[in-house]
Amino acid sequence: MCGIVGYIGYREAYPIIMKGLQRLEYRGYDSAGIALYDGNQINLSKTKGKVEDLRNKSERDIAINGTLGIGHTRWATHGVPNDVNSHPHYSNSGDLVIIHNGIIENYESVKTELKKRGYVFESDTDTEVLVNLIEEVKKKENVKLGQAVQIALNQVVGAYAIAVFDKQKPDEIVVAKLGSPLAIGIGDKEFFIASDASPFIEFTNNAVYLEDDEMAIIRPGKEIKLRKIKDDAVAYPMVQELQLNLEEIEKGGYDHFMLKEIYEQPRAIKDTYRGRLLADQGLIKMSGIDDNLEKFLNANRIIIVACGTSWHAGLVAEYIFEDLARVPVEVEYASEFRYRNPVITNKDVVIAISQSGETADTLAAIKLAKENGAFVFGVCNVVGSSIARETDAGAYTHAGPEIGVASTKAFTTQITILTLIALKLAKEKGEMSEPRYHEILTELEIIPSKVERALQANPLVEIIADVYKDSENCLYLGRGYNFPVALEGALKLKEISYIHAEGYPAAEMKHGPIALIDEQMPVIVIATKKGHYEKVVSNIQEIKSRKGKIIAIVTEGDEQVRELADHVIEVPETFECLSPLLTTIPLQLLSYHIAVMRGCNVDQPRNLAKSVTVE
Ligand code: AGP
Repeated sequence: MCGIVGYIGYREAYPIIMKGLQRLEYRGYDSAGIALYDGNQINLSKTKGKVEDLRNKSERDIAINGTLGIGHTRWATHGVPNDVNSHPHYSNSGDLVIIHNGIIENYESVKTELKKRGYVFESDTDTEVLVNLIEEVKKKENVKLGQAVQIALNQVVGAYAIAVFDKQKPDEIVVAKLGSPLAIGIGDKEFFIASDASPFIEFTNNAVYLEDDEMAIIRPGKEIKLRKIKDDAVAYPMVQELQLNLEEIEKGGYDHFMLKEIYEQPRAIKDTYRGRLLADQGLIKMSGIDDNLEKFLNANRIIIVACGTSWHAGLVAEYIFEDLARVPVEVEYASEFRYRNPVITNKDVVIAISQSGETADTLAAIKLAKENGAFVFGVCNVVGSSIARETDAGAYTHAGPEIGVASTKAFTTQITILTLIALKLAKEKGEMSEPRYHEILTELEIIPSKVERALQANPLVEIIADVYKDSENCLYLGRGYNFPVALEGALKLKEISYIHAEGYPAAEMKHGPIALIDEQMPVIVIATKKGHYEKVVSNIQEIKSRKGKIIAIVTEGDEQVRELADHVIEVPETFECLSPLLTTIPLQLLSYHIAVMRGCNVDQPRNLAKSVTVE
């Protein structure tokens, strides 16, 4: 869950690495560091805090010239975030310097061995152990850096994307990957290294994504040669042409990435169904499904594995698949599924949902499902990500880069894809009448314009946010399709504003949470017309009689709830199965404004990282 960047070539490395680190800050932002080789010596600077803090410190303390360098932005796993634990780390001789994203699980035993041989350690990190192990191997075996890295990596257990160079041979960087992502940007007589392609997109469109168990020695002017870490077999680099553009990874006039991404949803949903949803012809075309249709049609059940917001999208999908396609669905937290010896057979289809495509628990759940013979389908946003590669087939959401740590457009685009799949299966299985199928297809096609309309509530949401910004607790209620939306609304609020929030099925309130309600408690109730409207209205009455403050998300034109609630926010009318795409919008905006008003760092909330590559 850290970001790594490296450069070797003919340009000044410092600005490339600093800008790259800023773009990767979504991966971790509790400390940062940089090491540059100036033709004579290594200049290294690191600090607790953000990349901006590193910029201030390094420009004050070190020479920032040199055409070879590596940088790191950290989300702490071993050792508290402080200057010493920040990367890069030196080996004891001061010759080798390393950056690392991942965890070395057996670092304690390796450290003990190295200590016996006289090595000393400044930091509490597993990474400092790894660089010294490489140094020890290099000396003992009298081998070059590349070989030393390979031998050392065969002695460690864990996950890594590393970049390491040697002051004594400053014409190469050695990189290796297992479990954590690593992309190499290929320029003319220059190479870029990064956790994703965003740090080098303005320099090159050509990249190689390392596979697990691969390493490379990168020398400007030479071709990349890949090797398998385990058995030294030669691997062949697949050069990919990147689709990313610079605009997508910048804020584009918005104060925060999160707000930009909330507003991007109409476009993102369109991009998700573009070329797949052909409403006028009554067709849904998705090659990942079309090519594997029998697997889906013959499946005993669908198991959905995911984490966080993606898990909430999975819960919405459970309603959609069961309701429309009549397929039994189980939705599992990937982190629980992977360790609880689940019953999986080759008649199961597993759908793994992940924005980043790198979530360690989801990856492990996929591997387990595959080992047990299930067919695994991925729904990912990041093209070329580990989950996209690990699954048997899949569909990208095409939402564009999501940089705000709080997922917004990932949620709605995941629901869009899953709705398309459910509709396709419903049609193929004959579970839905033709007119209803066509109606939903047509409605889905115009949903982006309804999302636009839902976004128009923003000024009102801001006023409501101002009333509740100092709350300590908050309850979110919804039923049916909107129960997962309540969970998602609560997650958004707690992760970016640090207000304690709970999501509940509205009818469950009377089994416990109702005890929390008093005049201090804001309760956000999703009470749209379709679904269990009258039942939810009764729940609103129950809250009102206990003096709770009611913020209701209602269908345009609703009068009944308006009479009861303290505030109403309207969303356009739609089919119940599509309503999460609209009801989630005001909840995203509410969390956003409350977090801004509380002075929280919206895009980089404390303790979190965008891509959770550790378990
Ligand atoms: C959502 O706002 C979160 N930041 C988090 O829960 C996220 O959805 C989760 O970590 C899963 O990530 P993924 O979709 O990249 O797998």
